[in-house]
Amino acid sequence: MAEVLITGANRGIGLALVRSLAMRGDRIHATCRRPAEAVELKALAASPGFAVEVIGMDVADPGSIRAAAAALAGQPIDILVNNAGVLGPERQSTLDIDFDGWLRTFEINTISPLRVVQAFLANLRLSAAAKILTVSSRMGSLAYNRSDRIAYRSSKSAVNKVMQGLATDLRGEGIAVSVVHPGWVATDMGGTGADLSPDVSAAGIVRVIDKMRAKDSPRFYNYDGSELPW
Ligand SMILES: NC(=O)c1ccc[n+]([C@@H]2O[C@H](COP(=O)([O-])OP(=O)(O)OC[C@H]3O[C@@H](n4cnc5c(N)ncnc54)[C@H](OP(=O)(O)O)[C@@H]3O)[C@@H](O)[C@H]2O)c1
Repeated sequence: MAEVLITGANRGIGLALVRSLAMRGDRIHATCRRPAEAVELKALAASPGFAVEVIGMDVADPGSIRAAAAALAGQPIDILVNNAGVLGPERQSTLDIDFDGWLRTFEINTISPLRVVQAFLANLRLSAAAKILTVSSRMGSLAYNRSDRIAYRSSKSAVNKVMQGLATDLRGEGIAVSVVHPGWVATDMGGTGADLSPDVSAAGIVRVIDKMRAKDSPRFYNYDGSELPW
């Protein structure tokens, strides 16, 4: 039984991860920015046999992150999944970009994952073999040369770099750090034409979590366990 913290757990891939991990008996600290509106998540938390605690946390608000960390002070966390993310503004081509929207995208997709890790690092250090997995995207791979959605792509390229550095800094403590591409998933972000259901993607991500080891990190995993070029 692992203690797991997930961000953006109220819908999409985050919600499917809560379901998948809770079904196998893990204990989930499921965070989302508006718990009062998280109807599906609260229904999961009320399911018999599921150990799911819903916690309010807006990853773009440092005070909110601090408050969530204070609520869990002294409790070990074995697995932290940075899942919360945004696609970014309407206008995001290199020739016509909404700069404020790009900054906001960076704040949520790039800066917040590290802010969350730092806030919960004391909890992770209480685990015998902690794991930090950030849900990134193949769209951020420098080997994938496309120019659409450049705000989103650059935010994911940057979070990959941040997590690569974090892996180096935490490897000696036995904490594994990697990033994962969840596939093209039918969520509000991925749209209805996507390849995978959230449950299939989440099942793959859970297998990735299980094979993460500090000595092997960092890796850029695809949801199916294969590896992607950074
Ligand atoms: N779907 C895909 O095909 C795909 C492909 C590659 C990568 N990804 C990545 O997978 C992750 C999950 O995406 P998804 O497809 O499940 O997207 P989604 O359905 O749009 O869900 C996004 C989640 O992030 C949360 N979030 C956004 N801003 C937040 C904030 N400031 N604080 C806390 N939570 C916040 C949302 O909460 P609210 O409900 O409060 O907005 C929601 O729970 C993202 O990092 C995304 O970039 C998705």
